[in-house]
Amino acid sequence: MNIPKRVLSGITPSGDSLHIGNYFGAVKPQIELQNQVDQAYYFIADLHALTTVRDRAQLEQNITGVVLDYLALGLNPKKAVFFRQSQVPAHSQLAVILANFISYGQMQRMHAFKDKLQKDADVGSINMGLFNYPILMAADILLYKPFGVPVGEDQRQHVELTRDIAENFNKAYNQEVFPLPEPLIRTETGKIIGTDGQRKMSKSLKNTIAIFEDEAVIRKQIMSSYTDPNRKSATDPGTVEGNPIFMYHDLINDNVAEVEDLKSRYRSGKVGDVEVKEKLLAAHLQRFGAARQRRQELEQDLSLAKEILATGAAQANLLAQETLEQVYKVTGLTNHLN
Ligand code: TRP
Repeated sequence: MNIPKRVLSGITPSGDSLHIGNYFGAVKPQIELQNQVDQAYYFIADLHALTTVRDRAQLEQNITGVVLDYLALGLNPKKAVFFRQSQVPAHSQLAVILANFISYGQMQRMHAFKDKLQKDADVGSINMGLFNYPILMAADILLYKPFGVPVGEDQRQHVELTRDIAENFNKAYNQEVFPLPEPLIRTETGKIIGTDGQRKMSKSLKNTIAIFEDEAVIRKQIMSSYTDPNRKSATDPGTVEGNPIFMYHDLINDNVAEVEDLKSRYRSGKVGDVEVKEKLLAAHLQRFGAARQRRQELEQDLSLAKEILATGAAQANLLAQETLEQVYKVTGLTNHLN
């Protein structure tokens, strides 16, 4: 069988505003892949968001937000099929079937479930949507038979479970229905340190630098970032290695000569933190200015985004439906009575 080189990934609209950690760790590599493979499928995992979001207006807003983020940052609907999970019913349909190909014991070992259990210490507070989440995710992936799934490190276990489910299914019917997908994880940019200088950048830790927030917010986030704790004044020689502000410069600032100059002056105690941070802010606005502008335009008239998603859903449904029909046949759900 000749399967085109295809990748697929999902984005949960959990309501977190996009920050440079998500961008460089996951979003940028995903968007770049659209030019490097035959087909890219990216979808908004709105069904997954129901595990946590219970407010209708909130969910609508989260979904719109993620769609605009991706389009503004360069997702090209001519290169990538972009759609909403809930608009492709086969995701839910395949999940029901795949649940039979994984054990309860293995599901109990999934990190998302275990972490939640540890936090709340009570199985009574965990909804089945959360418990079943990895099965739905396996359905999301296997419907499209991708060779690779570009995700962050935190999703590795889910892709591994997907492989187990695919293998169990293939073995049960003695047919290679599902090719085993590879997790595509960029280890070098997978973990971006937060502005606290301690932990991975993450919304819940409030140590982020946003991309689309107002300039005043971004300024504050940059200005309050951790730098070199041993440096008391601008004339002290400072450390560049491991210093979050310089890591951000390396990621964001396209002006390599400026970055090198700042680093050498920092090392010799000839530049203050404030200047280094001001230049980072300027580089941020330069780097993301066009995307920020584009996002505003898309937001003012949502008809373009709507159209993109409708076209994407129609395309995704074709492929998803084909796989679902194959599964119905292989399992015996489609039979002489159809
Ligand atoms: N669980 C993923 C996350 O939280 C999102 C997701 C849902 C996904 N379905 C997927 C990612 C399928 C890749 C493939 O980031």
